[in-house]
Amino acid sequence: MSAAARARTLSDALRVAAQRLADAGVPSPRHDAEALAAHVLRRPRSEVVVAALRGDAVALGDMFDHLVEERSRRVPLQHLTGVATFRGLELAVGPGVFVPRPETEVVAQAAIDEAALVVADGRSAVVVDLCTGSGAIAVAVACEVPFAEVHAVELSEHAVAWAARNVTTHARGIDLRAGDAATAFPDLDGLADVVVSNPPYVPPGSVPVDPEVRDHDPEIALYGLGPDGLQVPRLVVATAERLLAPGGLLVVEHAEVQQPGLRALLTSSGRWDDVDGQLDLTGRPRYVTARRRS
Ligand SMILES: C[S@@+](CC[C@H](N)C(=O)[O-])C[C@H]1O[C@@H](n2cnc3c(N)ncnc32)[C@H](O)[C@@H]1O
Repeated sequence: MSAAARARTLSDALRVAAQRLADAGVPSPRHDAEALAAHVLRRPRSEVVVAALRGDAVALGDMFDHLVEERSRRVPLQHLTGVATFRGLELAVGPGVFVPRPETEVVAQAAIDEAALVVADGRSAVVVDLCTGSGAIAVAVACEVPFAEVHAVELSEHAVAWAARNVTTHARGIDLRAGDAATAFPDLDGLADVVVSNPPYVPPGSVPVDPEVRDHDPEIALYGLGPDGLQVPRLVVATAERLLAPGGLLVVEHAEVQQPGLRALLTSSGRWDDVDGQLDLTGRPRYVTARRRS
């Protein structure tokens, strides 16, 4: 048993575990130690924090020891707890699926706002999530816009399995399909009010630095292909062109350096109005929106 597992109080165990994680270069060691303890104890992290402050004696045992070692090897925290939080939802994740990121919450917000406007107009908003991964955006839209009709597609069979779990848990009405975004939903041509996507977009030379991303997110989820990483985003734009009704909204996430390229693609085709580069919550250019020209 490790020093962390043998420690007499929860506070000691967390201190030892956080130091182990800090030594391994984990970016938020104390948070992660608390999250792993919460997972082992099956209690919310906030309760673990309070129990540690109170000086409670808690035996965390070998499981905690094992999880801290795994995290120190830079296995993603979300793979160890099996959960990623996205817009307040607890989504099931693990090996084989992209872990949803906070910046995508803002992308989902744009789709949610547009769908809510359509619903407020007395219609059922048709929303399509291309490259859905764990189903994060689709599930968030379905949960936050009750009268939205949500469709989602994903190419990786491993990711589809995770998405199916999340759809079953949170929003059974979602039409989830396995397939290629390039050819998806021929039955919805010209009918969508919103097409939203966080596709793979990392350019070939930009291998992610963080081991959690580089070694654990699936390659198919990261790399956008082509010399600029925009091959998959381009096919997403082409599919959106086909699916959206006149005036419908496209929302696509991209890397910081790709906003000029995507804006140029949309404006030069003559098929889009209101092409706008958008910022994430930290002020970085991270997604574009555009309306299908009538
Ligand atoms: C960056 S991940 C994003 C997942 C999810 N949208 C999210 O925000 O968490 C991109 C996803 O696109 C999927 N993908 C890649 N190429 C695709 C294609 N041609 N058609 C459908 N899905 C694709 C990958 O398997 C991966 O799940």
